Amino acid sequence: MLEIKKKGVLMKTIIEPFKIKMVESIKMTTREQREEIIKKAGYNLFLINAEDIIIDLLTDSGTAAMSDLQWSGIMHGDESYAGARSYHRFFNKVQELTGFKHIIPTHQGRAAERILFEILAQKGKYIPSNTHFDTTRANIEYNGAEAVDLVIDEAKDPNSLHPFKGNIDLEKLENFIKEKGAENIPVCMLTITNNSGGGQPVSLENIRGAKEICLKYDIPLFLDACRFAENSYFIKMREPGYQDWSCRKIAQKIFSYADGCTMSAKKDALVNIGGFLAMNDDDLGLQARNVLIVTEGFPTYGGLAGRDLEAIAQGLDEVLDEDYLHYRIRTVEYMGERLDKMGVPYLKPTGGHALYLDAKAFAPHIPLEQFPGQAIAVALYIAGGIRSCEIGGIMFGKNDPETGTYIPPMLELVRLAFPRRVYTQSHFDYVLEVIEEVYQNRDQLKGFRFTYEAPMLRHFTAQFEMVD
Ligand code: F0G
Repeated sequence: MLEIKKKGVLMKTIIEPFKIKMVESIKMTTREQREEIIKKAGYNLFLINAEDIIIDLLTDSGTAAMSDLQWSGIMHGDESYAGARSYHRFFNKVQELTGFKHIIPTHQGRAAERILFEILAQKGKYIPSNTHFDTTRANIEYNGAEAVDLVIDEAKDPNSLHPFKGNIDLEKLENFIKEKGAENIPVCMLTITNNSGGGQPVSLENIRGAKEICLKYDIPLFLDACRFAENSYFIKMREPGYQDWSCRKIAQKIFSYADGCTMSAKKDALVNIGGFLAMNDDDLGLQARNVLIVTEGFPTYGGLAGRDLEAIAQGLDEVLDEDYLHYRIRTVEYMGERLDKMGVPYLKPTGGHALYLDAKAFAPHIPLEQFPGQAIAVALYIAGGIRSCEIGGIMFGKNDPETGTYIPPMLELVRLAFPRRVYTQSHFDYVLEVIEEVYQNRDQLKGFRFTYEAPMLRHFTAQFEMVD
């Protein structure tokens, strides 16, 4: 699929840099069976049993395949309540990578967010970011503060090829701080990579720029670091001056500009559960540990078992293996190249953990209020048993409270997120064939309307019928 010169050898195919020691069967279904299954689920892919899915691309979170070394770490996890050996291994690994003084294990990313914002986010406060992920935004708003997205304008154009489409707009950030007053901004966040914006990376120059502005106004800078390794690899590939740096060194440089981070270990720590909150500030560290004890657990295990801490420590090493990162990012890029050949519209350039189909361009005949993204996601399931995720009108659309008129979100996307180390080249080729079939028959796609809609986070439980 690609010719690269690496370590003096000309390689045409980027192979998965791992062997398979344990397998999990996939249950095959027929098109007729899937038509029945999805109809019964009210055309909501969240409501289908996982065993009725052939290729599950719902999320890259908590779905990684762990390595032999992670599993053996699990067997010698120390389950002592306080001061466990596994905690020290976890602490040392995270500290070596991030340099932060206080490292607090949590059961997943949003638990770290909840603790941080319970302390920092109150009514009248504003928290800017490139783009807040949904759970981050929800935790900020739950505590009464306002979450503000200040990503660069290029991020809003699905065809812009800007290499760092996850960047925060530094001018907007500084103006925002001046407008609202630094005293009302307890923290500034950067999501690396920017998940809600398409898994797009943030450049080191941009992180440094954000830090300089934050320093000037005495505002701490925190990273939402879930996909820090993928972001580091993009910097190595795309940002001048870093080609000879190891991804580990780039990652350490990224963290050196921050005052703390939240982390969902379910992404770039290659585990099925876990996370952490880290920072340098002693007072914040103390407060966070106090909240942790009340809601998650003792500070040396957070909401986790000792074995989970072992798996995270090992995963943080493995994720920075450059053969792994090369294969990982190249997989998404390869999918994009094949879609280009088929003429299928998607969010460009390809990001780190997922491919996002551009539903407005894919099915322009379906009005936005009939959710073209959902039409494509359902069709991918029926055609090939693929589970993807609509990130468009169902997730983010709103109705005007006065007129009831539908207000669509900026982008109408279908995300195909890739679990780490789970699927092989032929699985990905299969996914491409299914997308091609759906695209060739796109004129027959039909929209959807709600038959049940919950008042909040409606996408999880909604029921639909097809519009004829
Ligand atoms: N931040 C980002 C950027 C995320 O992508 C996620 C989760 C979280 C925070 C929350 O972490 O799930 O461990 O509590 N993203 C998943 C996804 C759910 O599918 O994109 P968590």
